[in-house]
Amino acid sequence: MKHFPVSESNAPLRASDGSTAPGAPGWTADIDNPYLHGIYAPSGAQFERARLDVVEGEIPEDLYGMYVRNGPNPVFKPRFKHHPFDGDGMLYAVYFENGCAHYSNRHIETKAFLAEAKNKASIWPGVMGPFDFDLPDFPIKDTSHTDVMFFNKHLLTLWYNAGIPYRLNAKSLSTTGREDLSGQLRRAMSAHSKVDPANGELVFFDYFDTPPYMRYGIADSQGNVIHDQAIKLPGPRLPHDIGVTPNYVVLHDLPFYHDVALLEKTGKRVMTFHRDVPARFGVQPRYGKGDEVRWFECEPCYILHVINCWEEGDWLVQVGCRSTNPMPKANPEDGELSHMLAYMRLEANLYLWKFNLKTGEVIERDIDTLNAEFPRSNPLYMGYKSQFCYSQYICTRQDDGIGTLAFGALLKYNIETGEYQRFDYGEGVYGNEAPFCPKPGATRAQPEDDGYLVTTVTDSKDWQSYTLIFDAKNIVRGPICKLRMPHRAPFGFHTNWVAGEDVFS
Ligand SMILES: [Fe+2]
Repeated sequence: MKHFPVSESNAPLRASDGSTAPGAPGWTADIDNPYLHGIYAPSGAQFERARLDVVEGEIPEDLYGMYVRNGPNPVFKPRFKHHPFDGDGMLYAVYFENGCAHYSNRHIETKAFLAEAKNKASIWPGVMGPFDFDLPDFPIKDTSHTDVMFFNKHLLTLWYNAGIPYRLNAKSLSTTGREDLSGQLRRAMSAHSKVDPANGELVFFDYFDTPPYMRYGIADSQGNVIHDQAIKLPGPRLPHDIGVTPNYVVLHDLPFYHDVALLEKTGKRVMTFHRDVPARFGVQPRYGKGDEVRWFECEPCYILHVINCWEEGDWLVQVGCRSTNPMPKANPEDGELSHMLAYMRLEANLYLWKFNLKTGEVIERDIDTLNAEFPRSNPLYMGYKSQFCYSQYICTRQDDGIGTLAFGALLKYNIETGEYQRFDYGEGVYGNEAPFCPKPGATRAQPEDDGYLVTTVTDSKDWQSYTLIFDAKNIVRGPICKLRMPHRAPFGFHTNWVAGEDVFS
């Protein structure tokens, strides 16, 4: 995979006096881990409906709704080694209404967050362990910090490791409780479970360390479970996403997994990429039974994010970001942090899989080779053939001397041709995932790219964060509006757009 660095500023992770980025709690200064400093440093600041000032351009009048991003923002000094996938979940929201923008951010009040707030110190270990099986719920902290979506009149936050879903009020960002799907959720739910915009159904999945290793289900728009199936896998897996079409679901069994015996013996989950084991994709009718899964074998790979799936005659098409090297080689010079730093050097490219439901044939190929991830697309096209996605160029920071994960540019891909438009955020400026924001009342009758993209960026030269709005039809000309944020908003994970009628009514 060829890299194309876009940012080479000299901005340090720490200022010359040794201080970390503004707003970070004091304990971060004592820990030599790049993912606790600079653009990744937690921020202790919280805002409630702070009006954002326009620096450039204008807020479109028809941008009506809420941009929301989830991400890690640890409160207390970690008990053990810190991993960038650790940290208490925080939502960062920008509300757009009548040409104005307001900003709020607030922690997700998970069970662990509340217990640690009471304890005034960390209780749970993080993903690097050691796992503590005596703790309630999970042996590491369920942060709910990975994904966020709008379901059944609430925001829903989810953890990548399959945790307890939490419900939050979209306007206030206050946590209103656990989402147990009317008492019918058997265990937990993974990030990248999906809400179908066509009918409001929540298509969800869960995975765990004991047989059958995976469950798949559907809740109706009122939160009642209407489908729930066990999916038998050969062993514990770490699927990160699923594909959903009107009639099918695509489940992932990928050869990047851990050894259960080793976890029990050492308390550590050691991931291994099994390069000789095929990637398997399980296609089953959306409301089918677990034994109706039809598995298609493909070249070994790992996948974080599916962009879209759709039905095309006898074929089921899946487009996503594929990694053939989820375990980049560690650099011994990085010391004991080397493996974590290596894992975070994400390498993935735009890829197509086609599964013939009649003959069993598989077609797979690169669409493009650029290192790009965290894709978003027009949500109205979920399950229907689509042409565009909006991804982040993985730049692997050149300015910190370590190569931490960062997003250097916004890409608009034509997924039919692999051609793309590109907007570089600028020297030392790093972005976040950019959800597509349909215009009010939009349907698939309008052009697919008739809408906006919203993201947040942080300039590592002065730690100022901005909200950027792009016209999705043309990102090359840059943001049509740039808004100054009231603090440095830390680098985060997944985002969503919630329509104004769902937020404000
Ligand atoms: Fe993800």
